[in-house]
Amino acid sequence: MYVAAITAFLGVAAGAPLPTTWPPPHNTSTQCVRMLAKHKLDWLLEPFTCTKAQKTSNAHIVLGTGLGGTGTRSVATAVDKLGYPACHSFLYVLRLLQMSKPHDLTAFRGGASYFDTPMGYIFPRLLCSFPKAKIVHTTRRDYHRGYDGSSRKCRSKREYRLESDLARCIEYGSTCPTREEARTAFANNERAVLSVPKSRRHIMNISDLSSIHAGPLAEFLGKEWRWGNPDKPIPHKAVYYASRACLGGNHPRHWVPRVH
Ligand SMILES: *[C@@H]1O[C@H](CO)[C@@H](O)[C@H](O)[C@H]1NC(C)=O
Ligand SMILES: *[C@@H]1O[C@H](CO)[C@@H](O)[C@H](O)[C@H]1NC(C)=O
Repeated sequence: MYVAAITAFLGVAAGAPLPTTWPPPHNTSTQCVRMLAKHKLDWLLEPFTCTKAQKTSNAHIVLGTGLGGTGTRSVATAVDKLGYPACHSFLYVLRLLQMSKPHDLTAFRGGASYFDTPMGYIFPRLLCSFPKAKIVHTTRRDYHRGYDGSSRKCRSKREYRLESDLARCIEYGSTCPTREEARTAFANNERAVLSVPKSRRHIMNISDLSSIHAGPLAEFLGKEWRWGNPDKPIPHKAVYYASRACLGGNHPRHWVPRVH
């Protein structure tokens, strides 16, 4: 009876309501609006309301919602070790978005955990589509990342140029966010994460080592940490082929988004 009561309580906690409406978090450059429309991804710029019209999946997926530069690779590695094979790849996240529709993002059900740009922007839609999904959020003090307009940092490998432009358009509203735009995206991302019921989010702040211990992360995901002291921070900069788990391990080396 006692167990049943606890289960019922957890059931209620897990079912805590999401905010219904999520405004688009940024102003999007004209260049981005054009590019996203061309690649049939402009529906992501619409405000989103979580309703019963959303097609859902009961898959227990894990969503890495931290922006770039907040330790997403280290956390992806830890989540992967805990039994949620991690897909840390903007290429693959974009591909799944192209396979999705405003009311159907269940294409993401094939994987176990997802990280990388633009997860920090799209996660509300995924929380709505996956009522059992949980967030592992990474954050930091003084968000520093900014590409400063034409900085060299904006130029990714030539073959991935289009994909990284699209991913940044979704996350920041710009192909090359300025420091100011990056800070705004960071603030909006923090606000969105904090609006999610506590039972569905675990926050790890890399500027506060006590918040990135392995044990609490494992517990949040219903697992046990067996790779060292759980009362220590998760390993930093672990060597990990981050896209290993994407597409069931068949992640293409290069993927060109469909042009319609
Ligand atoms: C978008 O631009 C408008 C007009 O410049 C401004 O008032 C608003 O704060 C901006 N919104 C965001 C999220 O940056
Ligand atoms: C992260 O931790 C640092 C150090 O304690 C703190 O100053 C900062 O406000 C925290 N950031 C967030 C977003 O919680």
